[in-house]
Amino acid sequence: MPRLQIGLWETSVANPAASFQKGLLQRDETRIVQGDAFDLINQLAARSVDLIITSPPYWGLRTYKERHNWDILTEWKRSRDKPTSIPPYRWYSDHGGLLGMEPFPEWYVAHMVEFFDSARRYLKATGSLWVNLGDTYFARWASIRDRGRQGLGNNPRERRRVPMGGFRQEKQLLLIPSRFAIEMQERRWILRNDLIWYKPNVPPRPEKDRLKLSHEHFFHFVQRPTQGRAKYYYDRSQAETGANDVVTCNVRAGQDDHTATFPEALITPRILSSSPVGGVVLDPFAGTGRALAVASRFGRTAIGFELSSDFVRAARKQLARASD
Ligand SMILES: C[S@@+](CC[C@H](N)C(=O)[O-])C[C@H]1O[C@@H](n2cnc3c(N)ncnc32)[C@H](O)[C@@H]1O
Repeated sequence: MPRLQIGLWETSVANPAASFQKGLLQRDETRIVQGDAFDLINQLAARSVDLIITSPPYWGLRTYKERHNWDILTEWKRSRDKPTSIPPYRWYSDHGGLLGMEPFPEWYVAHMVEFFDSARRYLKATGSLWVNLGDTYFARWASIRDRGRQGLGNNPRERRRVPMGGFRQEKQLLLIPSRFAIEMQERRWILRNDLIWYKPNVPPRPEKDRLKLSHEHFFHFVQRPTQGRAKYYYDRSQAETGANDVVTCNVRAGQDDHTATFPEALITPRILSSSPVGGVVLDPFAGTGRALAVASRFGRTAIGFELSSDFVRAARKQLARASD
């Protein structure tokens, strides 16, 4: 059996800290590992991944049933002479902060680029990064639910007061995907496409003074080389007919109690065009493992990280079904 030098081997799910030992991942193997992507990413071997494709938690919408420290801003202010600065992710997570629940969009963008700065070390020079992100409207009193701000019925919610100031004003569309993409460009990432995912089946909204938000962004980044122009693996014949940067695709009903599952029709052309057969595909915020299942079905080695043990369990079931 050929082996890839990925240096990742899961030995136990019960104790994530002890669940790795440096080892080898077998070709064609699919793995989802429970834990914080910011830690797990550093278990990979340098330059071992062909494609990172992911949809991180968006800002200010869902907790995915994980616990968050709602007093984290107060704690940060107390601990600092300069409370206007942004805590690094390590401080934030050590103090109970969840990615996506940062008190300010600026903290979230900083943490996201911090993650992709680390991830860059594990991506091959010819590799690609696809990041799916949706936007958020600012509300001074935000409703944050286990499964999303727009969750209906008895989906439990947390009300939090978000400090206003600058662009953070009532009713404002925050342009978080753009803020993230611009910050990535500042960090030597080359943006190749801002693919718009149009979602024709988004449910009606009660607001009468604006249009429905019915698209998300799917950014394609590659690495800026030290010299010359970026060269990376890409097979455009695997993209949709017409190879346009707007893709229409229905939102799927969540799977296994997850409300933000990737539609296969959206990710399959990305995986096929941006990674070679036999390549390694990583989804660091894997949810129920849809990207891993697709990658593996098309002959890629797939690795996923996921914080929630419930979703990891669901992903393992999905991957087992896919390999039957
Ligand atoms: C938008 S969802 C991804 C859904 C996925 N694309 C799918 O098809 O199921 C984001 C996921 O990131 C997970 N997550 C949040 N913070 C994380 C972290 N620090 N490390 C790893 N996973 C995290 C959440 O539990 C959630 O399942």
